Amino acid sequence: MLAVLTTAGAATLVAAPGPVAAETARQAQTTRPPKDSLGALGSRIGLRIGNAVNDDKLTTDATYTAILAGQFTTVTAENAMKWEVVEPSRGVNDFAAADRLVTFAAAHRQLVRGHTLLWHNQIPGWLTSGVTDGSISRSELRTILKRHVTTEVTHFKGKIWQWDVANEFFTDSTPSTINPNDFWVANLGEGIIADVFRWARAADPRALLFYNDYNIAGEDGTNAKADAVHAWAKGLKRQGVPIDGIGDQGHLDTQYPFPTTMTANLRRYEAAGFKVAITEADVRTFVDNATDQNPTDALALMAQPYEFSQMLKACLAVRACISFTVWGVNDRDSWIPGFFTDPLQGYATLHDVHLQPKPAFTTLQQDLTLAAGGAPRRTSA
Ligand code: XIL
Repeated sequence: MLAVLTTAGAATLVAAPGPVAAETARQAQTTRPPKDSLGALGSRIGLRIGNAVNDDKLTTDATYTAILAGQFTTVTAENAMKWEVVEPSRGVNDFAAADRLVTFAAAHRQLVRGHTLLWHNQIPGWLTSGVTDGSISRSELRTILKRHVTTEVTHFKGKIWQWDVANEFFTDSTPSTINPNDFWVANLGEGIIADVFRWARAADPRALLFYNDYNIAGEDGTNAKADAVHAWAKGLKRQGVPIDGIGDQGHLDTQYPFPTTMTANLRRYEAAGFKVAITEADVRTFVDNATDQNPTDALALMAQPYEFSQMLKACLAVRACISFTVWGVNDRDSWIPGFFTDPLQGYATLHDVHLQPKPAFTTLQQDLTLAAGGAPRRTSA
């Protein structure tokens, strides 16, 4: 890298030192995060710390971009790799936004989590309307899905560390099962999930393939969903389905107690031979309005960082837990106030609406500092 710069830039350096030196300095700055950044601290024990990215912000918001580049060592496309974005019209692929994120990640030495190949949400309108009006038959639907998975995974081949292959298939009931009313299950049967794992493996044999869901580490209080996903994933693995990891989304809410079985649940996935990741961590609470997001309950100011910290500690305690990804760079850009509206919730991330670090940020920084001295080192990051 240095040699290339020296050779290529030598003549220019003499004539115009300004731009080249500035560019080199900029690269040096952005490629080396501060020593006490979340990412640098996590790397001492091989744990990647990540965030979900809205790629529009990378060109319009310098503070957002600096936080992302400076603090995190893995990134997930918040929406840019979802089917409705990458194939807006049938047969027409658009990977531009996702490609921009992948390029950003490479420039900042971040690994990329791909999200998500098979989900009932954010699938293209042309697909769902075709199924509804009968113009897309079930066998054609299967062919279209296989082409989608193969095209997307091939497009990013070699550039994705972990793929969230299948997302949110289990019910929140007790007992929990694969949801028979899920769009994909209703149309193509449960076996389609295993097929998509096989297609993804064939397209990129080196990417780690994850099943991703919420409430699968005891957050529901009954452990029903965790039990169901654990048994199902273990069964698939036994049958030789290429499933490498379990992603617990980690969407917590301060109105519920912290799930004390989280560490045990992550350990149980580990014992079954899976890698583990916290993929969409946020901790929401009731707020006054979406612009300011002041918690309406004073206790939330303690509960929010506490639950974030406990969730990170659950991951730190389990060697198979290779990444901890927060869902949203700051409260202003978080999905929570747009989704949990009645009553309104927010204040869910590590940086506030003005992009200033919150107590949760400092707490995680302290946890990671302590972990560097004692938490088990992980290897595959
Ligand atoms: C959310 C995004 O954050 C929003 O911007 C979008 O409008 C809807 O989807 N579980 C998932 C994520 O797996 O893909 C969702 O992301 C949040 C819930």
